[in-house]
Amino acid sequence: MAQPEANFGFIGISGRGNSMLREFLSVPGVRVTAVCDKYEDRARRGAEIVKEVTGKDVEWYTDHRELLAREDIKAVVACTTWISHSRIAIDAMRAGKHVAFEVGGAASLDECWQMVRTAEQTGKICMIMENCCFERREMTLFKMIKEGMFGELVHFEGAYCHDLREEIGNGREIRHGRLVNFTARNGELYPTHQLGPIAKCLGINRGNRFLTLNSVASKGVGLHDWHVKQHTPDYYNYNTVFNEGDVVQTFLKCANGETVMLTHNCTLVHPYSRRYVIQGTNAIFSEAPEDDVICFDGEHRWKKFQPVLEANEHPLWKEYRTAGVHAGHGGMDYLVLCAYAEAAINDLPAPIDVYDTATWMAVTCLSEQSVAMGGAPVPFPDFTDGLWIERGPFRRGKFCLEAVCDEYFE
Ligand SMILES: NC(=O)c1ccc[n+]([C@@H]2O[C@H](COP(=O)([O-])OP(=O)(O)OC[C@H]3O[C@@H](n4cnc5c(N)ncnc54)[C@H](O)[C@@H]3O)[C@@H](O)[C@H]2O)c1
Repeated sequence: MAQPEANFGFIGISGRGNSMLREFLSVPGVRVTAVCDKYEDRARRGAEIVKEVTGKDVEWYTDHRELLAREDIKAVVACTTWISHSRIAIDAMRAGKHVAFEVGGAASLDECWQMVRTAEQTGKICMIMENCCFERREMTLFKMIKEGMFGELVHFEGAYCHDLREEIGNGREIRHGRLVNFTARNGELYPTHQLGPIAKCLGINRGNRFLTLNSVASKGVGLHDWHVKQHTPDYYNYNTVFNEGDVVQTFLKCANGETVMLTHNCTLVHPYSRRYVIQGTNAIFSEAPEDDVICFDGEHRWKKFQPVLEANEHPLWKEYRTAGVHAGHGGMDYLVLCAYAEAAINDLPAPIDVYDTATWMAVTCLSEQSVAMGGAPVPFPDFTDGLWIERGPFRRGKFCLEAVCDEYFE
């Protein structure tokens, strides 16, 4: 994967930024020449990480606009908070830089439109780094769909079930961005981990689009219960009523007739799960608590998915396993960073473009509106302004998420 080199800036150096920065420094062609965090200690830590890994000194900043003013920087990565990603992305594109940022939903449709318009006007990459699109299982299922093994697609399910009570509840102590969102908002706050892969399977923004969305939220008692068990009544958040429902379910209807159901579930007891389900006319796949399972037409019973995965593995993962899989989240973090770096360094379209980014992030603010209206359906904007009906060709390549490009693998 040798390629030319380019200078990158890296913004947001908390837990996630820390591990992504280390991973990013091992991506071919990447030179990180500046780091930034609003907190000075974290910005300094970023510079220390670069020094530890590369031996080089880099500038650190506490204002991302100062980093973006640097002319030597071609592109940036942001691992900041949900309500800062789009602002940083827009500032970055206006400053002439490509940008990729961590996952999270949008707080308003306007920020999504601003990202779209700025990317269109500047020609810069604006990519949400949805690592799950590069997961071995998800890529293999995508390949199986493209080969017709599921027949015609009908229905998908996905979830973000992750017991984050400790991380959210201790948000003030650990200076973490999630707490304020769970306090103030109520909706599908983290839609993209399963929605990203689902949207790619469904050809959203390329021949298909989401038409409507509706969301229903349960009561939200998990975080309060956690605080009562952890603290004494003098704790500042002991009596706080959190707006976010413990279980938020969201339904999407597609122009081509398929349905998608998403679940957000982060404040109750729950082992990590994305509850992925794919149902077509020829097969059903389901994530299961122990082993993922699949059933093909005529079989009438579940069988383990693992042997099917091994027989149908996506060529990117075959190549990656031979070369040596990196650590982050089973290897997918490295792949999403490589995909962005390849596009940014060579000024090529990214496999997740601004239309994907805006569409996936918009689920959050649309879901908040629907929850507030008792689950009423809300119309889904078409960020492509009609191009979804007839898009130009996509860029083929190793990291392509529109097709399996066998010609790029030996
Ligand atoms: N893809 C994944 O698997 C995965 C895993 C964990 C976290 N994440 C995502 O990564 C992001 C960061 O997560 P985290 O746990 O590190 O969050 P965090 O709240 O601990 O850290 C966010 C950091 O961004 C900084 N920041 C915010 N606005 C800034 C600005 N304008 N300029 C500079 N710095 C700014 C904050 O000071 C903070 O240090 C979130 O979007 C989270 O959802 C993704």
